[in-house]
Amino acid sequence: MYRGDRICTDDCEVFYSRLQEQLRGLLAEETDWTANLANAAALLFYQLEDVNWLGFYLLRDGELVLGPFQGKPACTRIAVGEGVCGAAVEEGESQVVSDVHEFPGHIACDEDSRSELVIPMYLEGEILGVLDIDSPELERFDEQDERAMRELAEMIVHSSQ
Ligand code: SME
Repeated sequence: MYRGDRICTDDCEVFYSRLQEQLRGLLAEETDWTANLANAAALLFYQLEDVNWLGFYLLRDGELVLGPFQGKPACTRIAVGEGVCGAAVEEGESQVVSDVHEFPGHIACDEDSRSELVIPMYLEGEILGVLDIDSPELERFDEQDERAMRELAEMIVHSSQ
């Protein structure tokens, strides 16, 4: 269904712009939120290097509830303010965590995780949930990854309306 490079070595701009095109194609014919989150989780998980868990937590009645994901089974509910995902919602900002063991209150769903990127997903100023990406490598994510994933998360939300 999709083809493409899995690695972002010397030219991450090219890698991320291809990934954006792949995701755009995958979401083009569908507006169902669950279907799009599920396919986005699968595409991103299989295309990104050094990622052991990738998925969505969705805000339901003031609490984050596990949504579509790829990786080991994970905790189903996270309170706002709890862990990296809860911090992203409380602060309304992405969290780039280079070492999860240094993050107070980090929730270790998969003990392989060493670094993490969490992106809040917005629609018209309201947070719908987060995109959560875990890596077994320390310092896996930087600002370029954060910016690229924020753009992809926006695409997922807007393609699902
Ligand atoms: N690490 C997250 C919890 C979710 S798992 O990584 C899947 C956190 O501390 O928010």
